[in-house]
Amino acid sequence: MKLKNVGIIGLGTYVPEKVMTNFDFEKIIDTSDEWIRTRTGIEERRFASEDQATSDLAAEAAKKALKNAGVSVEEIDMIIVATATPDYNLQNTACIVQELIGAVNAGAVDVSAACSGFVYALTMAKGLVASGINKKILVIGAEVLSRCVDMQDRNTCVLFGDGAAAAIVTEVEEGYGMVSQFLGAEADLKGSLRTPAGGTRKPLSQEVLDERSNFIQMKGQDVFKFAVKALPKATLEALEQGGFKAEDIDMVFPHQANSRIIESASKRLNIPMEKFYLNLNKYGNTSSASIGLALGEALEKGLVKKGDLIALTGFGAGLTYASMIIRWSY
Ligand code: COA
Repeated sequence: MKLKNVGIIGLGTYVPEKVMTNFDFEKIIDTSDEWIRTRTGIEERRFASEDQATSDLAAEAAKKALKNAGVSVEEIDMIIVATATPDYNLQNTACIVQELIGAVNAGAVDVSAACSGFVYALTMAKGLVASGINKKILVIGAEVLSRCVDMQDRNTCVLFGDGAAAAIVTEVEEGYGMVSQFLGAEADLKGSLRTPAGGTRKPLSQEVLDERSNFIQMKGQDVFKFAVKALPKATLEALEQGGFKAEDIDMVFPHQANSRIIESASKRLNIPMEKFYLNLNKYGNTSSASIGLALGEALEKGLVKKGDLIALTGFGAGLTYASMIIRWSY
C-alpha cells in the first residue's frame, strides 16, 4: 500500500479577550513584573471568561482553521483534541467540539500529552490520513489552564495562559507536508509536573480541597533541566529521521514555556535565535495550544512560505517530548 503524503492546509487560532498582566498578579500574590519577565520572558497572558471552557476556545480556533483551509465542516471525518485541561474528566472534549461546530461526520478523540500534545496529535493525524483511514482531520490544541492552577501559588500561576490552535490535516502534493517526526517520553514518577489529586490515584475530597492538591504543582528547576535537554533532542531526532541537519531549518516553533529554555536550545542546536518564533511574552505557557498559536501568528505575518522547512517541538508533563519537521505546503 502506498502511503499518502500528508500536511497542514489551514490553521486557526483563538485566545480569550481578557488580558492578565504581570502587574495584575502583583496585586494578588507576592511577585513582580521584573521577576516574571526576567525568569520567563512572560509579560501577559489571556484568561478565559467564566462561561468559557476548553471546548469553547477549541471550537473558535476550529472555525477559523476550516475557513482558512477552505474546507466545509461536513468534510471533517476525525477530530483530535490535545488538551491537559478537558471540559470534563469523563467525556472527551473532542465530542463537545464536534457538537459546537457541527462536524456531523467526524469521529472524535482526545490526546493527553500535555505541552507535547499538539505534535503528538498531528503525528497521529498524519498516520490516519497516510494510511487512508481518514481524509480530513481537525487537530486542535486547546487549554483553559487558568482554572487548573492555584492562584495562591506564585511558582505556577504566573506561568500559564489560555488559548487554542487548530489545524486541518489532509493529503498534500508530493514533496511537501509532514516529513519526519519524533515522539518521546520519560516517565516522571516523582511528580515534577502534575495535578496530584482529582484523578483515580487521589480522588477529590475535603482533604484535597484543603491542601489545594487539585491544582497543578511543579518543581520548576526539575522541569527546567528536562526541558533544556528535551527541546534540542526531540528536534535533532526528528531532523535526523528526515535526513536533515540543523542548518536546513528555516524556522523553529518551540513550545512557549520560557524564553531561557528556548535560548538554551538555540545554543545547543546551533540554530540562531532569529529562527525561533516566540510569542510567550503575550500568551504565557498555553501548553498544547502554544505551538499552534505561534505558527498561526507567524503565518498571519507572512513569515512562513511554501517550501520552508519548519520544526514544531514540544516538551511537557509526563514527561513527554515531541518534534515534527514540515516542508510547508502553501
Ligand atoms: N515571583 C517571585 N518570586 C518567585 C516566583 C514568582 N512568581 N516564583 C518563585 N519565586 C521564588 C521562589 O519562591 C524562590 O524563592 P526562595 O529562593 O526564597 O525559595 C525563588 O523565586 C527562586 O525560585 P526557583 O524555583 O529557584 O526559580 P527559577 O530560577 O528556577 O525559576 C521557573 C523558576 C519556574 C521560572 C523556572 O524553574 C522554570 O521556568 N522552570 C520550567 C517551568 C516550565 O517551563 N514548566 C512548563 C513546562 S511545559
